[in-house]
Parts: sequence; C-alpha cells; structure tokens
Amino acid sequence: MPDAEPSRRLRVGMKLDKYRLVQRLGEGGFAVVFQAHDTIEDRSVALKVPDLSSDSLQQSFDDVQREVRIMASLSHPNVLPLKDARYIDGQFVMVFPLGEESLNDRLSRRMARTASVDYIRQMTAAVAHAHENKVLHRDIKPENFILFPGNQICLTDFGLARNQTRRHRVSASGTLGYIAPEQAMGKPTLRSDVFALGLIAYRMLAGVLPEYPFEPPLPSYAKFRKGLHQDFIDWVRKAIDPTPSKRFRDAVAMNNALKRIRNVITTKSTTAKSTRRSTRTAA
Ligand SMILES: Nc1ncnc2c1ncn2[C@@H]1O[C@H](COP(=O)(O)OP(=O)(O)O)[C@@H](O)[C@H]1O
Ligand SMILES: [Mg+2]
Repeated sequence: MPDAEPSRRLRVGMKLDKYRLVQRLGEGGFAVVFQAHDTIEDRSVALKVPDLSSDSLQQSFDDVQREVRIMASLSHPNVLPLKDARYIDGQFVMVFPLGEESLNDRLSRRMARTASVDYIRQMTAAVAHAHENKVLHRDIKPENFILFPGNQICLTDFGLARNQTRRHRVSASGTLGYIAPEQAMGKPTLRSDVFALGLIAYRMLAGVLPEYPFEPPLPSYAKFRKGLHQDFIDWVRKAIDPTPSKRFRDAVAMNNALKRIRNVITTKSTTAKSTRRSTRTAA
C-alpha cells in the first residue's frame, strides 16, 4: 500500500495529477472534500480525500476500500456516482460529480412543500436502491445528500455503510440527531436507515428535528401536517416509530408505500408548478 499523506496538508491551488484544488467544500470526521478542476476535461468535480494518517481519528484503508466498492456497486439517478478512485502522489482520492450544496445547507433556506416532497421521493428511492442491493447506509442525514441542478438530489457518503449479509454490532455509528434508538444502542438494521430517512422528512416539513425518545407529541406537529394528505402523514409517522418492528421493514417497502399514495399534498400551493423530477443523472 502506498504511503498515505495526511489530507490536511492539501491546500487550495495545489494540483493532484490533473485536478487543481479550487476550494474546500466540507469535511466529516474522516475526509476532506474539495471542489477541484479537472484540467484535462475542463470541468469541475468533487474530490473526497480520506484521512489515512496514523494519528487523529483513524480510518483504515480497508474502510475506504469498502466505501469505494459499495459506491461502485450502486447505480441509481439518486445515488452519487463514483467517477474514479485511486492514489495520486500517495494520496487516495475519490472523484464525484460536483453538486451545488448539501441538503443540510439547503435546509437553512425556505423550501416549498412541493419541493420538499419531491426531494423526499428521490431520497427514499436512493435508500431503497441501496437496500435492494443489501447495503445498509447507517449515516442517513441531510449532510450526506447532495443537490444538483434540476431539483435532483443524490445520496453519498457510504463511509459507514456495510453489506447486510453479516450482522454488525457497533457502539457508536451514525451521527446523533438522525440516529435510530436501536442504532444508538449498537444494533443498526435496515429499519434504522428507514427511521433516519423518516426523520429527515419530518424535519423538512416541520422545520424542526424531533428528539429522543421520539414519542408524541412531536414538535411543530401542526406545521408538519399542514396541507398534507393523511396517508402521507401516516407514512412519515410509520417510518419514525421508536419501535423498529412497527416501521417499514426496509426502504424498498417504504418506497413502494410512498408510490401507492395517490395524493400527498391536499391544498393547492399558489406557487406550485409541479416539480417533476429530472430524469437526468448526475454525471
Ligand atoms: N459531490 C459533492 N458536491 C458538492 N459538495 C459535496 C460533494 N460531496 C460532498 N460534499 C460536501 O462535503 C461534505 C462531506 O462529504 P462526505 O462525502 O459526506 O464526507 P465525510 O465522510 O467526511 O462526511 C458534504 O456534507 C457536503 O457538504
Ligand atoms: Mg458525510
């Protein structure tokens, strides 16, 4: 394995092979993400550089390889496509299409209900695709959904994801906030991803995030349900039931249930031009 340079030595303006680092976009616990310019293709990309340095919060090459292989195995308009993954000058990089911002950034500004519902449909389809492929994401949260032009949204950051074939017990995975109670206890299942997804939907529609133990009365419930059909309200509530067995068994069932709901929004929004999902893929 080549030597891994600590990613914090990377600087804006630096070149990694054909990629010139333009600006830092964000960082989670284990990686830095840069906007970069592909000087051969003359277009912008996002470069994710995992921190493989031996000090600080360590993640092993095995973890990064797992993340890469899981992302490479998925193909869906709402899952961020991995364009490339390799070492450049001893530095491991993952290359993705560049998005506009994360859903977390977007949530600081007002969002029309039709737009929220359209995003929720795409996000559910993305997690359903992962579950269909036996991939448990384990870190479903607004920071890990990236927005693209045409109201397209893509799921990314499979850094904590696992293939579902083996049982996994972990003490602290995911991020407090959107983490299901059983996952916080170290037992994440597909139903934990369902919970996190439901919680994001609630947060998008109510403007606030419910907190543990997620029992009624939920915060801003009146605002949450305003203009929504009862079937859709029930769909969100089923996803965020504190008892895992009462939720959808996985995002595939959750997605199928959503597709069966004929009317999601009951009141006509004056600004609402139907926000049909773009069929374009992020590439
Ligand atoms: N393709 C992308 N386009 C634009 N911004 C991105 C992209 N990928 C990631 N980001 C930004 O970088 C942040 C961290 O990326 P992520 O893949 O979640 O890494 P980490 O594993 O460090 O959390 C995201 O929350 C988002 O703000
Ligand atoms: Mg992340």
